[in-house]
Amino acid sequence: MGLHLHLLQAKLLASILLLSVSTQANFEIAKPNCMDRSGNISIPFPFGMSEGYYFNKSFLVTCNDTHYDPPELFWTDTGINITSITLEGQLRVLQFIARDCYSPDGIRVSYRSTSSRVLFRFMVNNIANKFIVVGCDTYAYVFGRLEYRKYQIGCISLCDKKDDLVNGSCSGLGCCHIPIPKQVRTVNVTLGSFDNFTNVSDFNNCGYAFLAEESAFNFSASSLFDLRNVKKLPRVVDWVVGEGTCEEARNNIYSYACKSENSYCREPDNGYGYRCYCQKGYEGNSYLDYDRGCKDIDECKDQSVHKCVKKCENTPGGFRCVCPKGYHGDGKNDGQGCIHGQSLVFEVATGY
Ligand SMILES: *[C@@H]1O[C@H](CO)[C@@H](O)[C@H](O)[C@H]1NC(C)=O
Ligand SMILES: *[C@@H]1O[C@H](CO)[C@@H](O)[C@H](O)[C@H]1NC(C)=O
Ligand SMILES: *[C@@H]1O[C@H](CO)[C@@H](O)[C@H](O)[C@H]1NC(C)=O
Ligand SMILES: *[C@@H]1O[C@H](CO)[C@@H](O)[C@H](O)[C@H]1NC(C)=O
Ligand SMILES: *[C@@H]1O[C@H](CO)[C@@H](O)[C@H](O)[C@H]1NC(C)=O
Ligand SMILES: *[C@@H]1O[C@H](CO)[C@@H](O)[C@H](O)[C@H]1NC(C)=O
Ligand SMILES: *[C@@H]1O[C@H](CO)[C@@H](O)[C@H](O)[C@H]1NC(C)=O
Ligand SMILES: *[C@@H]1O[C@H](CO)[C@@H](O)[C@H](O)[C@H]1NC(C)=O
Ligand SMILES: *[C@@H]1O[C@H](CO)[C@@H](O)[C@H](O)[C@H]1NC(C)=O
Repeated sequence: MGLHLHLLQAKLLASILLLSVSTQANFEIAKPNCMDRSGNISIPFPFGMSEGYYFNKSFLVTCNDTHYDPPELFWTDTGINITSITLEGQLRVLQFIARDCYSPDGIRVSYRSTSSRVLFRFMVNNIANKFIVVGCDTYAYVFGRLEYRKYQIGCISLCDKKDDLVNGSCSGLGCCHIPIPKQVRTVNVTLGSFDNFTNVSDFNNCGYAFLAEESAFNFSASSLFDLRNVKKLPRVVDWVVGEGTCEEARNNIYSYACKSENSYCREPDNGYGYRCYCQKGYEGNSYLDYDRGCKDIDECKDQSVHKCVKKCENTPGGFRCVCPKGYHGDGKNDGQGCIHGQSLVFEVATGY
C-alpha cells in the first residue's frame, strides 16, 4: 500500500517535472487556464486568443488547429501568419514578397507588388529588417508612411553574368540591401526592370523585392531561381502595449499595463507608446498581475551566476555571498573569496 502510494507520488512528481520542462520559459506567460501556445509558438499576455485572456481586442491572435497541422497562428482574423511573439516587444509576421518575371523574349509573365496596410498598428523594426532586392536587371522602391510623413527609398541590382554573383554577399551584384528609417508604419513595395531581363535571360528572368528580416535571407547564386518558390518571408515588427508616454500611462492606474509589482515602464527606441519589463533580478511576464508577473530570480541555483566560493544567499532582486564564521572577504570566486582569520581592517588596526 505504502509503496504503491509512493510510486504514484513519484509518477505524479515526474509528470509535473516533465510538464515544467517542456514549456520553454520557466515562468507563466499567460493568464491562468489560458492557452499559451499555438503549435510551438508561445502567446504571452497581453496577446491572447479569446476575450478575458487578451489585454484588449488589439491583442487578439487566432490559432487555426482545425485546418493546419502543426497549427498556424494568425494576426487577429487576417491571413497574416505570426511565427513568434516576444515579451521584449517583437512580433515576427510572414509577408509576401514582390516579384517581376519575364519570358526569355522579354514579355512580362507575372508581377506582384506588395503592401502592408493591415499591420498599421505596428512599427517595422529598423534593426532586424532590411529592404532587399534580388535580380540582375532589377530596381525596386519601398514607400509608405512614417508616423507623420511619407518616405520612399530604393535599390538597384544588376549583373552581367552568373559568375559575378558572390555567395553570401548582398552588395550590388545581383543583390542589394539597404536599411530602413525608424517609425515606418506602412510598407509598399514595387519593382521593375530596365530591359525586361533580355540581356541576362540565359540565367535570370525574375526580380524580387522584400522588406524582411535580414538573417532570414542568405543570398547565393541560386537565389535567382530559388526565390521563385518563396511566397513569404518573415518581417520583425515592434509592438507596444499602449499609447502615450510612461508618465501619461501611469496616471491611469486602471489601464496602466505594467501590472506586476516588480516591473517598470519604458518607451521604445523606435516609435511611440510604452512597454513593460521586469526589474533587474526578476524574470517573467511584467504584464501579468502582481505576484504572477515578475518573479525573483534565484541566482543561488547557478554557480556560474553567483560565483560564491562558500555560501550564497538569495535576496529579493539579488543575492549575497556569505563566508563561514571565522572567515572574512566578499566571498566571491572572482573577488577576495573567503579568507581565514579576522578581517583585514582589524589586523591593520592591531598592527599599530
Ligand atoms: C517552430 O517549429 C518550426 C519547425 O519545426 C521551427 O522552424 C521554428 O523555429 C519553431 N519556432 C519556435 C518559436 O520555436
Ligand atoms: C482555419 O483555416 C481554414 C482555411 O483557411 C478556414 O476555412 C477555417 O475557417 C479556419 N478556422 C478557424 C477556426 O479560424
Ligand atoms: C501561412 O498562412 C497561410 C494561410 O494564410 C498558410 O497556407 C501557410 O501554410 C502558413 N504558413 C506559412 C509558413 O506560410
Ligand atoms: C518590357 O515589358 C513591358 C511589360 O510587359 C512591355 O510593356 C515592354 O514593351 C517590354 N519591353 C521590351 C523592350 O521588351
Ligand atoms: C500602399 O498600397 C495600398 C494598397 O495598394 C494603398 O491603398 C496605399 O495608398 C499605398 N500607400 C502609399 C503611401 O502609397
Ligand atoms: C554558391 O551557392 C550555390 C548554391 O547555393 C552553389 O551551387 C555554388 O557552388 C556556390 N558557389 C560558390 C563559388 O561557392
Ligand atoms: C549563408 O551562406 C553562406 C555562404 O553560402 C554560408 O556560409 C552561411 O552558413 C549561410 N548562413 C545561413 C544563416 O544560412
Ligand atoms: C542590355 O544590353 C544593351 C545592349 O547591349 C545595353 O544598351 C543595355 O544597357 C543593357 N542593359 C543593362 C541593364 O545592362
Ligand atoms: C487597447 O489598449 C491600448 C492601450 O490602452 C489602446 O491604445 C488601444 O486603443 C486599445 N484597443 C482597443 C481595441 O480597445
